[in-house]
Amino acid sequence: MTLPTAPAPLPVAPPSDCPFEPPIEFTALRAERPISKVSLPDGSWAWLVTRYADIRAILGDTRFSSDTTVHGYPLSGMTGGPSTQNRGFIRMDPPEHTRLRRMVTREFMVKRVEALRPEIQRLTDELCDAMERAEGRERGGVDLVEALALPVPSLVISLLLGVPYDDHTLFQRLTGTLLSRTVPDAEREAARVELRDYLDELVTAKEADPGDDILGRLIVEQQRTGEITHDEVAAFAALLLIAGHETTANMIGLSALTLMRDTETAERLRQDPGLIRGAVEELLRFHSIIRNGPRRVATADIEIDGHLIRAGEGVVAAVPSGNRDESVFADADRLDVQRPNAQHHIAFGYGIHQCLGQALARVELQVVLATLLRRFPTMRPAVPIEEIPFRTDMSIYGCHTLPVTW
Ligand code: HEM
Repeated sequence: MTLPTAPAPLPVAPPSDCPFEPPIEFTALRAERPISKVSLPDGSWAWLVTRYADIRAILGDTRFSSDTTVHGYPLSGMTGGPSTQNRGFIRMDPPEHTRLRRMVTREFMVKRVEALRPEIQRLTDELCDAMERAEGRERGGVDLVEALALPVPSLVISLLLGVPYDDHTLFQRLTGTLLSRTVPDAEREAARVELRDYLDELVTAKEADPGDDILGRLIVEQQRTGEITHDEVAAFAALLLIAGHETTANMIGLSALTLMRDTETAERLRQDPGLIRGAVEELLRFHSIIRNGPRRVATADIEIDGHLIRAGEGVVAAVPSGNRDESVFADADRLDVQRPNAQHHIAFGYGIHQCLGQALARVELQVVLATLLRRFPTMRPAVPIEEIPFRTDMSIYGCHTLPVTW
């Protein structure tokens, strides 16, 4: 294909005939112009990096800053603006990033998360029981996103944080607005303020009665000892709540749909449930649902593969492109649940900001997908694929709704 000569907007749309593929432009960019310019909504531009090795080099180099207040940071509209208030540590650099991330690292360690597996299985089984009883199945299907994909991660992160799940419609609505690429800035700002006020009240209530959960422990161990403030606890809550459910929910929806269409792979996983761990890694690589970054700004002049990125210039790391890089993943556009190196994907990012919740996301995906395969072997989309609303308008890819029947 012919590549544009002037900076064009970041490619986000999948090819019209295949909603599972990343934007088609990435193949040509990787081959011909692996570090190219993209235009940004505010009229400026940034470097778009499309090869696996270059993305890892950038995300692994702390001279590339995650701080949205640093001049030149490539704002997408969804990154929370350059405001200094209530930024989670995802938008900070060392030493603050290290200090804050360390306070919650143990909460998401593999051992801790593995101990949650029986509870995640119980929640999943309950939601599947409810799906079996649902009446909509013969009339247009049951929406798998609403019935299972969103509630599992949402329930789990609410439980871990100590956020009342009864408030889930509120925080799901606000998160949806914050992650949308198409809502007007004023609406997004209003959602940010509403979420901040909600969490501010919640943290105030927990200060009086902390409870045995992540926010409670942060209050007792860090806030009461003067290491962090009330606002910082609220910023932890916002980051973990937002990062903790939309991402996994969309991976569940897309992966379930992929397995409904690839019946041979689904049968292989049913016959050998031991393959599910590798399958989840491959699905993470294949779908790479973070379509808008990660983003960074260079704080020094840095050469990446012979290309000079100057201090103050922004970078957009195209993870969906890196994960389809043929020099790392042979036959990269094919889903192969037994791919030997699938776990080298960069769907969780790379370097010091690599996803804190990855062990949790893995367990949730393994449990939900294995349960669906076992309990609903004949599950299929209830509408033609063209009628499924894919999230091309959101920074996290997936399906808005997924009507299924069985
Ligand atoms: C399939 C699901 C998920 C995907 C694909 C995903 C992806 C990512 C990516 C790409 C980053 C790196 C951002 C950057 O470099 O700027 C990240 C960071 C992060 N993720 Fe996830 N994530 C997922 C699930 C979760 C879950 C369940 C949690 C639970 C709390 C979580 C919490 C976080 C946090 C706190 C960070 C910031 C880490 C830091 O800055 O040190 N994520 N995630």
